[in-house]
Amino acid sequence: MINNAQVFVLESKKLRVSITNYGAHILRVEMLNRNGKWSDCVLGYETLEDYKKYDGYVGATIGRACNRIKDGRFTLHGKNYQLGLNDGDKSLHGGIHGFDKRMFVASIYDEGMLQLQYRSVDGEEGYPGTVDVIITYRTFDDTLSVTYDAVSNKDTLVNLTNHSYFNLSDTSNQLKNHTLQIQAHEFAEIDENLITTGNFIPVADTLFDFRKPQEIYQQLQKNHPQKERAKGIDHHYNFSTSTNQVVLDYPPLKRRLIVSTSMPGAQIYTANFLDKRWFRNNKEFGFRDAICIETQAISNSINFSEGLEVILRAFEPYHEWTNYRFESYE
Ligand code: GAL
Repeated sequence: MINNAQVFVLESKKLRVSITNYGAHILRVEMLNRNGKWSDCVLGYETLEDYKKYDGYVGATIGRACNRIKDGRFTLHGKNYQLGLNDGDKSLHGGIHGFDKRMFVASIYDEGMLQLQYRSVDGEEGYPGTVDVIITYRTFDDTLSVTYDAVSNKDTLVNLTNHSYFNLSDTSNQLKNHTLQIQAHEFAEIDENLITTGNFIPVADTLFDFRKPQEIYQQLQKNHPQKERAKGIDHHYNFSTSTNQVVLDYPPLKRRLIVSTSMPGAQIYTANFLDKRWFRNNKEFGFRDAICIETQAISNSINFSEGLEVILRAFEPYHEWTNYRFESYE
């Protein structure tokens, strides 16, 4: 049983969002269409128990450090740290009991704002330092804004994201007719274990090129050794602009998601490992039926560069935000 899990609803003119303090999951995002109807934009389960039971991090907040860290190991100021291993010999999305499995405390809640707090103690999942995290969700007009604040009492790694699966068609059709635009000239190479190597590959002349809007499904019919490794797109893109970095569009229903973030990039993941399962409203979704836009600093950088983007210095503020704008257009 999940104790003390609550559901909080945020509402604005054009959005209805449900969030739980269990793993600070986004449970539901509904947008108002021009025809006056509300439609679901993210995958979500029917019950909180399902969130605990299933893998895939559906809607979860990910921390302390998102995505894979090679061998779950890193060195900081000459000291070696071993993280919890939960993906073979890798640490994925914060380790065995990442933030997605932790109970947050709601400190502020009204119709348009929810603040969830969590204290991650020194040594949790192997990470140094006690980190206080505050995630703030706000809805205004057609935008859901997620702000991440954290402070640590020792130098540590912090790289937070949200793992919502978007699908603007509400059908499990492998993202057919969804177009994607990403303001990025390069993406991060991954090795056979899906770990970033520190090399970057220009998107030009590859299926990974979304500088102009491209149909995701069509792009995924093309070949590239990096696509074969991940069974699809499961790669970090380095952004080349500072706003509106990712746009997901579904022209048949004239719905569009525009993502703006303070973060330097995003893991774009086309749900290649999502096995078929039941989601809310008796809908089955699986392989490539949705897309995650995980705004983040590049994972594993602590092991191939100085990791400057992911090191949080003691008593210095971590402050990042991502805005998701859901537009119903003419
Ligand atoms: C993504 C990751 C994928 C997969 C997924 C969770 O962020 O890049 O490889 O692990 O999370 O199922």
